Amino acid sequence: MKKIIAISALLLGGALVPAGYAWSQAAIATPAAQLIETRQAGQDVVYGLISDMKAAVAAKADVKGFADGAGALSRWFHNFPSLFPAGTETGHNTKVLAAAFSDAAGFAKAAEEASAAAGKLAEIAKTGDQAAFAVQFQALGQACGACHRTYKERN
Ligand code: HEC
Repeated sequence: MKKIIAISALLLGGALVPAGYAWSQAAIATPAAQLIETRQAGQDVVYGLISDMKAAVAAKADVKGFADGAGALSRWFHNFPSLFPAGTETGHNTKVLAAAFSDAAGFAKAAEEASAAAGKLAEIAKTGDQAAFAVQFQALGQACGACHRTYKERN
């Protein structure tokens, strides 16, 4: 009996799907807008973490707690170019420059350099070596700047 109820609920749900689907398609933003918002929000989170790291470096505070965050930064930048498919060049307040699309290989390389720098920072964080962390943090900062100079509008 329970099975029959479950199956009829499933069938009923299935019958309702088309109408609900059409509604949700109309209500959600376009994929381009979502990608642009995702990459901008992600970069703002990145900035927050970088600011915390900067403060810790200045205060010569313990850096071990940044191991996971730096590792996440490495994975974020490794996947960052996937948030820039064709169709997301303009609109929705994006600050990306056309060069990120016309020179996609250069953009990917800049992302990979930031990923590698963050990966190295994660390894150093685990050791707790504050001086080495400070040096590598500078290298990561340079990777941010290098990409922004070529591929992002100035604020
Ligand atoms: C591979 C290139 C690249 C690297 C590396 C990179 N960025 Fe960006 N960043 C961009 C692009 C492109 C945008 C603009 C995205 C958009 O508006 O669609 C951006 C946007 C931003 C923004 C503004 C987000 C917003 O709300 O508009 C901040 C803040 C930022 N990046 C910080 C950083 C920091 C900090 C680093 C280094 C840890 C970094 N970025 C590394 C390319 C990069």
